[in-house]
Amino acid sequence: MTDKREETGNSVSRVDEVLYRGIVKPQTSSTNLHNGAPVPSENHSVTVGQQGPNILSDVHLVEKLAHFNREMVPDRIPHAKGHGAFGELHITGDVSRYTKAKLFQPGTVTPMVTRFSTVAGESGSPDTWRDVHGFALRFYSEDGNYDIVGNNTPVFFVRDPMKFPDFIHSQKRNGATGLRNADMQWDFWTRAPESAHQVTYLMGDRGTPKTTRHQNGYGSHTFQWINEAGEPFWVKYHFISRQGVANFTASEAELTAGRNADCHREDLYRAIERGDFPIWDVKVQIMPVGDAENYRFNPFDVTKTWSKKDYPRIDVGHFILNRNPVNYHAQIEQVALNPGNIVPGIGFSPDRMLQGRLFAYADQQRYRIGPNFNQLPINQPLHPVNTYSHQGSMAYQFNEAKAPTYSPNRFDKGAGYLDDGETSSSGTDIDYGEARDVYVSPDPHGANLRRGAYVKHAEDGDFVQPGILYREVLNDDERERLADNISSAMIGVSESVEERCYWYWSSVDENLGARVKGLFAQKK
Ligand code: HEM
Repeated sequence: MTDKREETGNSVSRVDEVLYRGIVKPQTSSTNLHNGAPVPSENHSVTVGQQGPNILSDVHLVEKLAHFNREMVPDRIPHAKGHGAFGELHITGDVSRYTKAKLFQPGTVTPMVTRFSTVAGESGSPDTWRDVHGFALRFYSEDGNYDIVGNNTPVFFVRDPMKFPDFIHSQKRNGATGLRNADMQWDFWTRAPESAHQVTYLMGDRGTPKTTRHQNGYGSHTFQWINEAGEPFWVKYHFISRQGVANFTASEAELTAGRNADCHREDLYRAIERGDFPIWDVKVQIMPVGDAENYRFNPFDVTKTWSKKDYPRIDVGHFILNRNPVNYHAQIEQVALNPGNIVPGIGFSPDRMLQGRLFAYADQQRYRIGPNFNQLPINQPLHPVNTYSHQGSMAYQFNEAKAPTYSPNRFDKGAGYLDDGETSSSGTDIDYGEARDVYVSPDPHGANLRRGAYVKHAEDGDFVQPGILYREVLNDDERERLADNISSAMIGVSESVEERCYWYWSSVDENLGARVKGLFAQKK
């Protein structure tokens, strides 16, 4: 067998960076109770005398049985059966004129994890049941995790996310019988004729790949790339196996399902173990944004491909899988791959299926793993996450005590705290009409996506109506109580916030600002 270790170059340390995060190194040779105390015995429970029953004071027995009951997390609804490996992306081409994404710059090496899967079967189902096969990649890039969650086919069954749950139901088990059911499958497919392209792949040889190593992968959707100058391009990903493509015949696949249900998982594991590292060439098709509207196929319909004659594939580099997981559950089962995980230089597209997926993945992961799934070592990016999101079940990462938990805030950006409130902390009225952040439009027909946009009408100033309320609606007594309540509520504010309070209330009404200031001076 060829040892492809030399192809990994400086790879060893890069991929190990993510592979070994989270491993616990035992301090002693004896095992521990979950509180860290030594376990008296792993093999013998405590009994009352020679013949008596067990007792609850054997806390290790209770803990061991209870934890065992909780070993499983819910399966992914689609793509429950999977396997994966670690490796690296090497960029040998130059696509810098299309994207500024750091992971795609010439010479860059990025650690990655993959998960390969079937779609319809449960977590123990055979790898060779005829199915589309998931081909999901996570790159731990300098700018954060970038996930490409694709398949071994370049298209999909439906083009509207509304149909996705129905499609999956038709492929899984019948509600009444608990059996998979050809009638449901064909009923759905023939009533959703946009499925014909994908079903042609599925019923052909690609529905039964011989190994994971001998299949190509595709990002399937159209995505956006954005270069340093801010110019957008439409892009499709192709991952071409250097091992070649090999498929089982239908009868070989059926036989293999009985002989070794995990043959794809085993083949990949054994190949990596013996140093026969599989490699895929990474290629892209690039479409200038201006071509999209009149291209002969709708470029945002995931049931269609782009002709390679119209948009030839461009070499980007390759990825190599050279490390097996250290723990299947922690590193493959709990990986939370998500098409929504993108990095600067990459964008989405108006593909409606892609838009639907942007909601669905993280939602299932919150349910499947828990709201803090991103804190697991396999899901952490290379650099620490700086965020205002906090707490929730199983939260174990937290910010330093003085870090604010909200935005906008008065704290110093330079100290590493995010502050989105530049305009609102400037002390002037916010001009909502000025979008702070205008996106490159994902809509070829020209709709702009804006952040912070607001149509400001003639009297829309933030302080106009509260000023009227103070001057024209409240009576003298109410105005006095208002100023009194405000000044009491301010007790405890820092000096800088005190000043902002005077600005705020003076902007509502000069007289109110002055009253608050006077009262607060007496109370603080
Ligand atoms: C897994 C939803 C379309 C490929 C999943 C998961 C969900 C999901 C909820 C489980 C995620 C998790 O718990 O980690 C959807 C929805 C779709 C859609 C709502 C359409 C609206 C697609 C398409 C592709 C795809 C078009 C391929 C081009 C995959 C793969 C996985 C997956 C490969 C497994 C990822 C892994 O290995 O962890 N999908 N999906 N899905 N989906 Fe989709």
